[in-house]
Amino acid sequence: MKKAEFLPSLYTHNAIIDAQHQELINTINKLYEAIDSGKGTDEAKNALAFLMQYTVFHFGGEEKLMQEDKYPLFTEHKAAHDAFVETVKGLYQKLMEEGATEDFADQVEQEITNWLIVHIKGMDLKMIEWKNHRSGNQMDNLM
Ligand SMILES: [Fe+2]
Ligand SMILES: [Fe+2]
Repeated sequence: MKKAEFLPSLYTHNAIIDAQHQELINTINKLYEAIDSGKGTDEAKNALAFLMQYTVFHFGGEEKLMQEDKYPLFTEHKAAHDAFVETVKGLYQKLMEEGATEDFADQVEQEITNWLIVHIKGMDLKMIEWKNHRSGNQMDNLM
Protein backbone atom coordinates (compact mmCIF):
# COMPACT_ATOMS: atom_id res chain seq x y z
CA MET A 1 0.00 0.00 0.00
CA LYS A 2 1.09 3.55 -0.67
CA LYS A 3 2.10 5.58 2.35
CA ALA A 4 2.94 9.22 3.02
CA GLU A 5 5.56 9.90 5.67
CA PHE A 6 6.11 12.93 7.83
CA LEU A 7 9.90 12.87 7.63
CA PRO A 8 12.17 15.25 9.60
CA SER A 9 13.08 16.95 6.31
CA LEU A 10 9.52 18.31 6.34
CA TYR A 11 9.77 19.99 9.74
CA THR A 12 9.47 23.75 9.69
CA HIS A 13 9.87 23.86 13.51
CA ASN A 14 6.80 26.03 13.74
CA ALA A 15 4.65 23.93 16.09
CA ILE A 16 1.27 24.88 14.62
CA ILE A 17 2.31 24.50 10.98
CA ASP A 18 4.06 21.18 11.69
CA ALA A 19 1.00 19.79 13.50
CA GLN A 20 -1.20 20.76 10.56
CA HIS A 21 1.19 19.21 8.05
CA GLN A 22 1.16 16.03 10.15
CA GLU A 23 -2.64 16.03 10.03
CA LEU A 24 -2.55 16.43 6.24
CA ILE A 25 -0.16 13.47 5.96
CA ASN A 26 -2.40 11.39 8.26
CA THR A 27 -5.41 12.20 6.11
CA ILE A 28 -3.58 11.20 2.94
CA ASN A 29 -2.85 7.84 4.61
CA LYS A 30 -6.52 7.43 5.51
CA LEU A 31 -7.32 8.07 1.87
CA TYR A 32 -4.81 5.43 0.74
CA GLU A 33 -6.30 2.97 3.26
CA ALA A 34 -9.81 3.70 2.00
CA ILE A 35 -8.75 3.12 -1.60
CA ASP A 36 -7.00 -0.10 -0.60
CA SER A 37 -9.82 -1.49 1.55
CA GLY A 38 -11.97 -2.04 -1.51
CA LYS A 39 -15.07 -1.03 0.45
CA GLY A 40 -16.36 1.07 -2.38
CA THR A 41 -15.70 4.73 -2.77
CA ASP A 42 -17.62 6.21 0.18
CA GLU A 43 -14.73 6.03 2.61
CA ALA A 44 -12.37 7.47 0.02
CA LYS A 45 -14.82 10.28 -0.68
CA ASN A 46 -15.04 11.12 3.03
CA ALA A 47 -11.26 11.15 3.39
CA LEU A 48 -10.79 13.30 0.29
CA ALA A 49 -13.55 15.70 1.36
CA PHE A 50 -11.90 16.08 4.76
CA LEU A 51 -8.53 16.58 3.09
CA MET A 52 -9.98 19.35 0.94
CA GLN A 53 -11.60 21.05 3.93
CA TYR A 54 -8.50 20.78 6.10
CA THR A 55 -6.25 21.98 3.27
CA VAL A 56 -8.35 25.13 2.83
CA PHE A 57 -8.17 25.72 6.61
CA HIS A 58 -4.39 25.16 6.68
CA PHE A 59 -3.70 27.36 3.64
CA GLY A 60 -5.88 30.09 5.16
CA GLY A 61 -3.70 30.04 8.29
CA GLU A 62 -0.47 30.27 6.31
CA GLU A 63 -1.85 33.07 4.17
CA LYS A 64 -2.88 35.06 7.23
CA LEU A 65 0.59 34.61 8.67
CA MET A 66 2.20 35.79 5.41
CA GLN A 67 -0.05 38.82 5.17
CA GLU A 68 0.59 39.81 8.78
CA ASP A 69 4.31 39.77 8.09
CA LYS A 70 3.99 41.37 4.65
CA TYR A 71 5.82 38.38 3.20
CA PRO A 72 7.31 39.35 -0.19
CA LEU A 73 6.51 35.97 -1.82
CA PHE A 74 2.88 35.95 -0.72
CA THR A 75 1.40 36.15 -4.24
CA GLU A 76 3.39 33.16 -5.57
CA HIS A 77 2.71 31.13 -2.44
CA LYS A 78 -1.02 31.83 -2.52
CA ALA A 79 -1.18 31.02 -6.25
CA ALA A 80 0.39 27.62 -5.49
CA HIS A 81 -2.22 27.02 -2.76
CA ASP A 82 -5.07 27.99 -5.08
CA ALA A 83 -3.81 25.70 -7.84
CA PHE A 84 -3.58 22.80 -5.40
CA VAL A 85 -7.17 23.32 -4.19
CA GLU A 86 -8.26 23.10 -7.86
CA THR A 87 -6.24 19.87 -8.25
CA VAL A 88 -7.97 18.34 -5.22
CA LYS A 89 -11.38 19.37 -6.58
CA GLY A 90 -10.51 17.71 -9.89
CA LEU A 91 -9.51 14.52 -8.08
CA TYR A 92 -12.78 14.52 -6.15
CA GLN A 93 -14.64 14.75 -9.45
CA LYS A 94 -12.59 11.85 -10.84
CA LEU A 95 -13.32 9.78 -7.73
CA MET A 96 -17.06 10.38 -8.13
CA GLU A 97 -16.97 9.41 -11.78
CA GLU A 98 -14.53 6.51 -11.83
CA GLY A 99 -14.34 5.26 -8.24
CA ALA A 100 -11.30 4.47 -6.09
CA THR A 101 -9.25 2.81 -8.82
CA GLU A 102 -5.53 2.08 -8.86
CA ASP A 103 -5.13 4.84 -11.39
CA PHE A 104 -6.79 7.19 -8.91
CA ALA A 105 -4.36 6.11 -6.18
CA ASP A 106 -1.43 6.83 -8.53
CA GLN A 107 -2.81 10.26 -9.24
CA VAL A 108 -3.25 10.97 -5.51
CA GLU A 109 0.37 10.01 -4.98
CA GLN A 110 1.65 12.28 -7.73
CA GLU A 111 -0.69 15.24 -7.42
CA ILE A 112 -1.36 15.32 -3.68
CA THR A 113 1.40 13.52 -1.77
CA ASN A 114 4.33 14.52 -3.96
CA TRP A 115 3.03 18.06 -4.42
CA LEU A 116 2.66 18.50 -0.68
CA ILE A 117 6.18 17.26 0.04
CA VAL A 118 7.72 19.57 -2.56
CA HIS A 119 5.58 22.49 -1.36
CA ILE A 120 6.48 22.04 2.31
CA LYS A 121 10.20 21.60 1.62
CA GLY A 122 10.22 24.59 -0.70
CA MET A 123 7.70 27.35 -0.17
CA ASP A 124 6.62 26.58 3.40
CA LEU A 125 10.16 26.22 4.76
CA LYS A 126 11.19 29.43 3.02
CA MET A 127 8.21 31.25 4.53
CA ILE A 128 8.96 30.09 8.08
CA GLU A 129 12.69 30.83 7.71
CA TRP A 130 11.81 34.34 6.58
CA LYS A 131 9.41 34.79 9.47
CA ASN A 132 11.99 33.56 12.01
CA HIS A 133 14.70 35.74 10.53
CA ARG A 134 12.37 38.73 10.60
CA SER A 135 11.36 38.28 14.23
CA GLY A 136 15.07 37.85 15.05
CA ASN A 137 15.74 41.21 13.45
CA GLN A 138 12.92 42.79 15.38
CA MET A 139 14.45 41.51 18.60
CA ASP A 140 17.77 43.10 17.58
CA ASN A 141 16.00 46.39 17.04
CA LEU A 142 14.57 46.31 20.53
CA MET A 143 17.94 45.89 22.17
FE1 LIG B 1 1.77 24.19 4.51
FE1 LIG C 1 2.00 26.66 1.89
